[in-house]
Amino acid sequence: MKVLVVGGGGREHAIIWKLKQSPKVTELYCAPGNGGIAEIATCVPIKATDVDAMVEYAKKEQFDLVFVAPDDPLALGMVDKMEAAGLRAFGPHANAAIVEASKAFSKELMKKYNIPTAKYQTFTNQDEALAYLETQDMPIVIKADGLALGKGVIIAQTLDEAKKAVVSMMSDGAFGTAGSTVVIEECMVGPELTILAFSDGKTVIPMISSRDHKRAYDHDEGLNTGGMGAVTPGANLSAEDDKVIYDSIIAPTIAALAAEGRPFKGVIYFGLMLTKDGPKVVEYNARFGDPECQAILPRMENDLMELIDACIDGTLDQVKLSWKPGCSCVVVMASGGYPEKYDKGYEITGIADCGHIVFQAGTALKDGKLVTSGGRVLCVYADGATMDEAIDSAYEGVKKISFEKMHYRTDIGRTLN
Ligand code: AMP
Ligand code: GLY
Repeated sequence: MKVLVVGGGGREHAIIWKLKQSPKVTELYCAPGNGGIAEIATCVPIKATDVDAMVEYAKKEQFDLVFVAPDDPLALGMVDKMEAAGLRAFGPHANAAIVEASKAFSKELMKKYNIPTAKYQTFTNQDEALAYLETQDMPIVIKADGLALGKGVIIAQTLDEAKKAVVSMMSDGAFGTAGSTVVIEECMVGPELTILAFSDGKTVIPMISSRDHKRAYDHDEGLNTGGMGAVTPGANLSAEDDKVIYDSIIAPTIAALAAEGRPFKGVIYFGLMLTKDGPKVVEYNARFGDPECQAILPRMENDLMELIDACIDGTLDQVKLSWKPGCSCVVVMASGGYPEKYDKGYEITGIADCGHIVFQAGTALKDGKLVTSGGRVLCVYADGATMDEAIDSAYEGVKKISFEKMHYRTDIGRTLN
């Protein structure tokens, strides 16, 4: 099969690395890709959000499969448009990808189908939002409705902070049109957990659990980022806990979307909080998480193409997932200053000899050298029989890689609670 993967981050590197092992895949392309992906696939300089150019290119090259990995092209309907052009594509249609693209939609869905989540209200009028805040306990969570690169969420400790957040989103356009509708919700407390699952619209199969580390600095300090590291499993859950999550959240979500005429085919992301009242949904994403994907795929024993085919063809009920036992850890190495201002163009050394799987994100090839080109530069993967073994091994790899002004957290996986 000749396959095109849309995207260019660490997640896409991991997807391509895994697809490369599939006996069904003969040719791999990535658009736009990055410096690391270029070593194992042909990279094509088309922006992931340029839907029309991507469809034209895919038609011209007659790909057997187009895997749409990032949120923006999914929300823009890239899968629908590929199919309309007669191509086979993996990922949810726009009408299902809305679970990520609109928080107001997903909160409404959860309310209608009794899926546990934080209590909330949606507002399109700023005065009403401000008046509502006066009646609520603090802390409280303010969310921009649309896609905002994971940054459209503010946890306000005081009424003053909450009001400022509402005004910045609704009047000052801090997140553009993503903030013209806001969701204000109860602040939940508890450890967070990610569950990714394959879905063919009817059957849903969860993968091993994982846990992201979103803050920039150790001890969960600093700004929210796209993710500074991840581990699998994300929590020590009993079979009973797994069943509660499946029965109260995972299966009902897929059934709800099907009932609404929006069957979800692809990978769905459940961002959960394990509260004292049981597991609750923080958010849905319509895709593999990054960096959770990089921690999960190397442990997957199935051929990823087998799962993709089953999701598209509606035969997931005939598939069983199997996993390499133990634990895994990925540590993200970022450009100093990320997620705010940072410099690019620094040479990266040590990857080839580090003895670990390295998934690259913000890297580019320049005059034959690998250089930094983004905030999250790469991540180092390791697994082990225990969590400590996996973490120690990942950090051994990190120590062998270097570039100027690099920054990484030293406590990935160490602060699980
Ligand atoms: P989201 O973009 O919805 O995933 O939110 C980003 C992060 O904000 C989450 O990973 C949580 O850490 C935090 N968060 C979001 N909603 C809530 C909530 N209702 N209660 C507490 N924390 C939240
Ligand atoms: N790791 C969080 C996300 O991919 O949105």
